[in-house]
Amino acid sequence: MNAQELIDIAKKLVADDKGLLAMDESTPTCNKRFAKVGIPQTEEMRRSYRELIVTTPGLNGSISGAILSDETIRQHQKDGIPFVKALVNNGIVPGIKVDAGAKELAGHSGEKISEGLDGLRERLAEYRRMGAQFAKWRAVITIGDSIPSRSCIEANAHALARYAALSQEAGLVPVVEPEVLMDGNHTLERCFEVSENVLHTVFGQLYRQRVMLEGMLLKPNMVLPGLDCTEQETVNQVADATLICLLRAVPAAVPGITFLSGGQSPELASARLNAMNSGLRPKMPWALSFSFARAIQQPALEIWQGQELNAWEAQQALQHRARCNQAARRGEYSIAMEQHE
Ligand code: G3H
Repeated sequence: MNAQELIDIAKKLVADDKGLLAMDESTPTCNKRFAKVGIPQTEEMRRSYRELIVTTPGLNGSISGAILSDETIRQHQKDGIPFVKALVNNGIVPGIKVDAGAKELAGHSGEKISEGLDGLRERLAEYRRMGAQFAKWRAVITIGDSIPSRSCIEANAHALARYAALSQEAGLVPVVEPEVLMDGNHTLERCFEVSENVLHTVFGQLYRQRVMLEGMLLKPNMVLPGLDCTEQETVNQVADATLICLLRAVPAAVPGITFLSGGQSPELASARLNAMNSGLRPKMPWALSFSFARAIQQPALEIWQGQELNAWEAQQALQHRARCNQAARRGEYSIAMEQHE
């Protein structure tokens, strides 16, 4: 694949005010979410839930691409059609999560490093043959007393850049995800400082590993106060802090920023994205989009409860959140959308 094809896919993923649907929870994470709402944690239930998502009517109106897990990319609908084919038939670009999870970083209590570089070239080639067109890798940075350490930030940034270069070599658009977690009682200022530091380090490494910025997407956290911080800034303050941080650290050559939701409520995630895209703000150099998992899926999962008779209502809830986020990309989301749809 040539550079232009990567650029075209990256642009397509952020075109028409659509965004990405992250449905790439690892088996343990998916099981944890099922357990919370009393759904049996079996391979068939995970398959059936993913079928509910993929077959949601009209999803392609607001979703450009869907990120799958290794288990899901190998699964089929009940009628035998592979999920990848069903997505493509529906005009949704299939993507794949390729990191092997965040593990304890040796010698660094409380910090993590995402693994999965060994054998990655071969895995990427296989996913490409299966129809994936983009690949996501998530790095996790925790804020706490005297963390994150420089070594944790550098190790994760290096891994992100190595994976991104390998993805482009394989013809897959990298969706580079350095997530600064919301957990903790840190302030918004502290999240700003850490996010800026992480992003500068990541882009330094991407440059060194010769990643073509025009053929990638960045999937960062919004700049937020910790969940347990006593001071919770307004939607506009969060939008301002996030944009200032990104303007300082993300080159204009990157075509799109697709935020993760990270545990925000679905409504807050939409409202904050909306504020960043509001007509009152100057136009940013990159598309400001979404790549949410929980902030799109959670209401649907809670309605579904593993019961076929709830599937239609769950699909309506999923579709609603996808549409709210598309409206947020246009700066047209308002809380009234939650009451009237
Ligand atoms: O890697 C994390 C997911 O792709 C995004 O999940 O929106 O629930 O944070 P989230």
